[in-house]
Amino acid sequence: MSSPGVPDLTTLRPRLPSPLQEVEDERFTRRGVRLLLKRDDLIHPDLVGNKWRKLAPNLTAAAGRPILTFGGAYSNHLRATAAAGRLLGLPTIGLVRGEELSDRPLNPSLARCSADGMRLHFVDRSTYRRKTDPKTLAALLRAAGATDAYVVPEGGSNALAVRGCRALGEELSGRADVVAIACGTGGTLAGLAAGLSPDQRALGVPVLRGGFLTADIRALQHQAFGGPRGDWQLDDRFHFGRYARTTPELEAFAEDFEERHGVLVERLYVAKLLYGLVTLADEGAFPRGATVVAVVTGTSQEA
Ligand SMILES: Cc1ncc(COP(=O)(O)O)c(C=O)c1O
Repeated sequence: MSSPGVPDLTTLRPRLPSPLQEVEDERFTRRGVRLLLKRDDLIHPDLVGNKWRKLAPNLTAAAGRPILTFGGAYSNHLRATAAAGRLLGLPTIGLVRGEELSDRPLNPSLARCSADGMRLHFVDRSTYRRKTDPKTLAALLRAAGATDAYVVPEGGSNALAVRGCRALGEELSGRADVVAIACGTGGTLAGLAAGLSPDQRALGVPVLRGGFLTADIRALQHQAFGGPRGDWQLDDRFHFGRYARTTPELEAFAEDFEERHGVLVERLYVAKLLYGLVTLADEGAFPRGATVVAVVTGTSQEA
């Protein structure tokens, strides 16, 4: 039973724990390494992968208030928030980066948000960059007519979201030596690492260039748990230049992986993660007998 105003997320029937699937891939087996896929992409058709784990605790905490959040014009997080609003009957407001978009037709991603009932407000890029500054945020909420809203940060990574992702680690306790995941804000990795047992380690593959993520993940763990948690590290070699950048080589790799294993490979995050893991296996980075889990955090329709 949920209290008044608190949405009952069990009505959405998430598939939890998400399935863990072994794949036979000779690039790993020839090194004596097992590869398993943690199919978070199967948790829920609209709140896919880490979106469920990050949003669910925030939807509960919002207790029926309108949810306001931020994102770029193709943000998976905006789409998932809009879908959650439709499914749970909650008002949602999306603050979208780029004022110039306001007089253009909506792209398919934003059209989907709007069809799901999300109220969209376009914000100029310089204000958008300052959106975490309290005065700027207050002005943005006033301008959007949403001073009563529950605010979820860009990418959805706040302390509640990070704590929600701890369950991902707990589900994998005793099932793997290394758990690898693609990182944007690093919130999912911050929670995952906290949920693993002491003999397991998490490996993050950042999809953005910059080298700022170690500090961000430390800060997120501090906010969520009061200090560092788990054994984690990042491998910064697989961002392919910048966020959303792909190359013919990466595209061919993703298509080949889909053919080999019959799993759709989301291109912005999951393709870079899997490419990184195949490279690491080839480099002999995993000891013989190791079990490596790759977390499938999204689906290819999302990209
Ligand atoms: C498919 C997918 N995988 C991974 C991530 C990375 O999550 P995080 O921002 O928590 O690092 C995202 C981020 O939104 C995503 O959409």
